Amino acid sequence: MSIKRLFLACCLVQLAVAPAGSDERKNHDKDVVYDEAKVPPYDLPPLLVSSEGKPITTPEEWFNVRRPQIMSLFGNLIYGVVPQPESPIKTTFEVVKTDRNFMGGKATRKDVRIRFENAKGSAEMTILVFTPNDAKGPAPAFLLHSFAGTKDDGHDAHPDRPGFLRNGIPLGEFLQRGFGFVVVPQGALVAHNEVEFLKGIHPLFYRTGQSFPKANEWGCIAAVSWSASRAMDYLETDRDIDANRIAAIGHSKMGKATLWTVAQDQRFALAISAQSGCAGAALWKRNFGENMEKMVTRFPYWLCRNAWKFVRNEDDLPVDQHMLLACIAPRPVYVHSGVEDTWADPRGEYLSAYHASEVYRLLGKKGLTSEASPPVGEAIVQSDVGYHNRPGGHSIEMFDWLKFLAFAEHHLNPK
Ligand code: GCU
Repeated sequence: MSIKRLFLACCLVQLAVAPAGSDERKNHDKDVVYDEAKVPPYDLPPLLVSSEGKPITTPEEWFNVRRPQIMSLFGNLIYGVVPQPESPIKTTFEVVKTDRNFMGGKATRKDVRIRFENAKGSAEMTILVFTPNDAKGPAPAFLLHSFAGTKDDGHDAHPDRPGFLRNGIPLGEFLQRGFGFVVVPQGALVAHNEVEFLKGIHPLFYRTGQSFPKANEWGCIAAVSWSASRAMDYLETDRDIDANRIAAIGHSKMGKATLWTVAQDQRFALAISAQSGCAGAALWKRNFGENMEKMVTRFPYWLCRNAWKFVRNEDDLPVDQHMLLACIAPRPVYVHSGVEDTWADPRGEYLSAYHASEVYRLLGKKGLTSEASPPVGEAIVQSDVGYHNRPGGHSIEMFDWLKFLAFAEHHLNPK
């Protein structure tokens, strides 16, 4: 076994035995801050002042000046930019299977193969598209950035739990409310933990002689986001789906990807970040729970390599994650935390959403008004910036799905 593979295997075993936020994880990371009193004093980079020091006071200045500056910083310093391929990529969509009788006839499931090809190579992913059979017209949908490595990981109907997929997703709840559900597996185009950048989608983008992304080029999370945009390209052609009303959602690493997806691709109507934590909704500068050092030592290539410069130096970052949420505005964004999910810094996730609200207000939208986190279990849904913190740890529970649905129903009017 190579050193890299050994390292990877250790990481995976560690993740399997020590879920984020568990006591085991805390003991392992003695230097991790879990005490609010130990959060260092910090200043967040301003949202509404340009890099040149000019105040941003109108929506036009936000969209034309400040937002592009912030997106470029996130692209070049955090997630990595998608390079221009030397050879044009040909993309094809093929519905390889249609089941009109899914879940006892409640839904149609389509397996759609999306294939990418250019002079450098080829890659493909298969997404799943579930649509309600009783829809009166094209359905709004949730697009799940799924941890599944492939389409087959548990996306069949559960044999004993009506309304659920085998992997626990309550698909029936979505269908009943008029939503479709799209699954984009993360593992198809990029390996979960790097080390395989000679396979998957990256080689199609390498310039002659290149064999690894440059320091400012896309890592794993950015590749996952790119795949969601390609899924969106397909969805725009699917008559059963209303591509103008798609809510992207993801948990944890996939929550990080969700925020980057929706910030970049303005075709998405709404974003839901489920416990995305570090490099997701949580603020870097609080250094609470997972921080840059923990992230890039365990997962060196989730972000771009430029991010490594900020290890033990988050203070130097010219962005923080509230700015990423702000780049989603005016489209609604929902942030979900878990009380025991301290590795993901629930308070930092809330504060990010709170501070991003400044931009929502500039754009005439409703943001969070209180700097204090809401009581545990109380969901803020009727707002363009939504939030809840649930008792318990690092997972999506039925309580959470129902709040996400309520938020999306409020904004996307499915029925
Ligand atoms: C690890 C990682 C987190 C990530 C999580 C997950 O705990 O440190 O940043 O969110 O895995 O994806 O489940």
